Amino acid sequence: MASAKPTHKRYRNLIGDRWAPARTHHTFENRNPANTSDLIGVFPASGAMDVADAVAAAKMAFHSWRLVPAPKRAEVLFRAGELLAARKERYAHDMTREMGKVLVESRGDVQEAIDTAFYMAGEGRRLFGQTTQSELPNKFAMSTRMPVGVCGMITPWNFPMAIPSWKLLPALVCGNTCVIKPAEDAPLSTLHLVETLLDAGLPKGVVNIVFGFGPEAGGPLGEHPDLDAISFTGSSETGRKVGQNAAAGLKPCSLEMGGKNAMIVMDDANLELAVEGALWGAFGTTGQRCTATSRILLHREIAVAFTRQLVEKAKKLRVGDGLKKNTQLGPQINGQHIATSERYVQIALAEGAKLLTGGKRLHGKAYATGHFFAPTIFSGVTPAMRIAQEEVFGPVVSLLEFDSFEQAIAIANGVSYGLSASIYTRDVNRGYRAMRDLEAGIVYINAPTIGAEVHLPFGGVKQTGNGHREGGNAALDFYSSWKSIYVDYSDRLQRAQID
Ligand code: UN1
Repeated sequence: MASAKPTHKRYRNLIGDRWAPARTHHTFENRNPANTSDLIGVFPASGAMDVADAVAAAKMAFHSWRLVPAPKRAEVLFRAGELLAARKERYAHDMTREMGKVLVESRGDVQEAIDTAFYMAGEGRRLFGQTTQSELPNKFAMSTRMPVGVCGMITPWNFPMAIPSWKLLPALVCGNTCVIKPAEDAPLSTLHLVETLLDAGLPKGVVNIVFGFGPEAGGPLGEHPDLDAISFTGSSETGRKVGQNAAAGLKPCSLEMGGKNAMIVMDDANLELAVEGALWGAFGTTGQRCTATSRILLHREIAVAFTRQLVEKAKKLRVGDGLKKNTQLGPQINGQHIATSERYVQIALAEGAKLLTGGKRLHGKAYATGHFFAPTIFSGVTPAMRIAQEEVFGPVVSLLEFDSFEQAIAIANGVSYGLSASIYTRDVNRGYRAMRDLEAGIVYINAPTIGAEVHLPFGGVKQTGNGHREGGNAALDFYSSWKSIYVDYSDRLQRAQID
């Protein structure tokens, strides 16, 4: 009997112009979190030597890529955007299969990479600097953006194409070369982005991809002496290490980490709209966004009505395989993350919070093969509780109550993170005060805490990051360095500040 053909593929690292297995000879499996018997692929579990090869390839490629005119570099990005659009459905399908989120959301993730490609391609004909006057006669002054060099990137599994695109595409248009290490839980979607760039005409060596785990591959990438900059999105714990390494090497380092994002619902809010927003913000992507709405602050006057509606609707959410048409909530990424959700449920109960719905992993035939957790809502949460302070990264939301706008702002700000925040109100004055006073990098009025668009800065204050922003023009500030140039055409020595 002929043996069944394996449905999965064996993938390789991209190092310079070669597709190479890991020098460690180790591999890891990429499985579908909705159905763990579905093996998507086997990927190299790379180590320090693979990282070193990739960095060397990127360093070599930098010599020529930096000299390609930016509008020409941008043409690659334009073509990549078009190819991604043509491949959107296939890539979205594969993304749901490897990462779990529902198909419409995976389409959104691919769309975010398309949007970034077109935006950054447009930058190829801008990348503006300044020209200005000199304080001395017959002298000219200007500034221009220069590429930084070899950029290392460590990316998460929750937006496995969008977030890599936020890093790769501005880096490329600025003339840098890259080594990217995507998360081991969703490596295929990042590979799809890189393959698309190659198909669009990106010269080999300009982007290198190394698959593997944090300690074995991510760590050596962050520590590599030939990196000129490092960009990381992920947990605060790992980000701190990446940052410390970068500081020791005096390297530019962009860190994007956690959130404990609050939505404030005032007594004058459109309640139905706020409930709808809360469901999307808290349970979209199964709560696995750094921008997820994880605290809902309710004005005491509307708390009962809001809670009743929210719980009723949350109970009806259809949890299941994201590839199935009617599913609204996919699985969590893996068993460890389910365990984290379970642990936080125990913590919240022990702290005295009241479990209104969910709180457990889902069992039964439909859920037997995946990592499913019920949408979970706690009420009676107070600001100091751990469930109100720490990021869960799962479908778990806390309801807190307040009496005044000032108190709501204080509670919203009373956490160590500062990524995203929102307020539902019809009072324009309060809206503007919230825009000013919420300590967050992103603020929404009458919308939940998710839904950032690629042409605006993305990132947070406080412990969420280290001051950099991705998205839009702000990304260029990380992936280029300013060079100020003075041209003296006076034919004599002129001394600034002295003559
Ligand atoms: C994340 O929260 O992990 O703003 C990224 C959003 C998406 C990106 C989210 N565009 O919700």
